[in-house]
Amino acid sequence: MAPLPQTPADGVAWVTGASSGIGREVAARLAKGGWRVVVSARSEAALAALAAEHPGRIVPFRLDAEDRAAAATAVARIEAEVGPIALAVLNAGIYLPVKGDALTLEPFTRSVAVNLTGTVDVLVPLIDAMKTRRKGQIAVVSSVAGYSGLPTSAAYGATKAALFNLCESLKFDLDRLGILLQVVSPGFVDTPATKTNPFPMPFLISVETAGERIVRGLGRRAFEITFPRRFTYGLKALRLLPYSLYFPIVKRFTGWT
Ligand SMILES: NC(=O)c1ccc[n+]([C@@H]2O[C@H](COP(=O)([O-])OP(=O)(O)OC[C@H]3O[C@@H](n4cnc5c(N)ncnc54)[C@H](OP(=O)(O)O)[C@@H]3O)[C@@H](O)[C@H]2O)c1
Repeated sequence: MAPLPQTPADGVAWVTGASSGIGREVAARLAKGGWRVVVSARSEAALAALAAEHPGRIVPFRLDAEDRAAAATAVARIEAEVGPIALAVLNAGIYLPVKGDALTLEPFTRSVAVNLTGTVDVLVPLIDAMKTRRKGQIAVVSSVAGYSGLPTSAAYGATKAALFNLCESLKFDLDRLGILLQVVSPGFVDTPATKTNPFPMPFLISVETAGERIVRGLGRRAFEITFPRRFTYGLKALRLLPYSLYFPIVKRFTGWT
């Protein structure tokens, strides 16, 4: 059976990408639920504003996921300055649209640096710290865009697919170490990241609903926290289809003809 979810009695929570959107909402809900929450991102003013809304509960910790040296030492610094990390929600991420008819390297390099390498850079010391305590909980925020290829998602989707595989693979070992590993796969959530999307976003949900679903999932042992299910389960089913059906269906639903 999967290890147990952690509670505020076990240590502090850490949420990356907490200056806006989903990360901010999850951090606020964890703070209201009794956790002391370390919040990371690059925007210090936004982190300070969040901390001011939850006096004594939220500790800002500036971290740029592309600064590999800072990421490598972040866990040790948080544990020394604030306390042992019982729960980590690794949520920092960027979506950079890619079009095949105007392909450049930059969105791939940056997406890999923030979404994938940025996650692994903190995962390594995090697991190291948790394994000595033989307990802990880590939730990695991926996306349904990682289930299968979607228009404009060549860079973003590739990093999110990698996060699924990474988590699935690590779960075998982390179960044995007593560390609960979960992957979060939201559908479309109304956040600054999706505000400018030029395409229709079916089953778009509010950031409050997303935060509520994630925090509820963190209290359970299920490997995947995914929502809204009527959308995400549909996408899961799509990836089982032969490509001769998959591509026409996705083209039809996205209008990408
Ligand atoms: N919104 C959706 O529909 C949706 C769906 C599926 C998955 N997701 C995933 O959910 C997560 C949060 O997305 P969101 O929609 O809430 O977007 P958002 O509002 O743009 O938030 C992204 C967060 O990541 C942080 N971030 C970006 N680059 C960073 C860097 N180099 N170093 C450290 N932090 C960085 C941002 O903070 P700073 O800019 O201050 O650094 C911000 O706090 C992402 O992983 C995203 O892929 C979102």
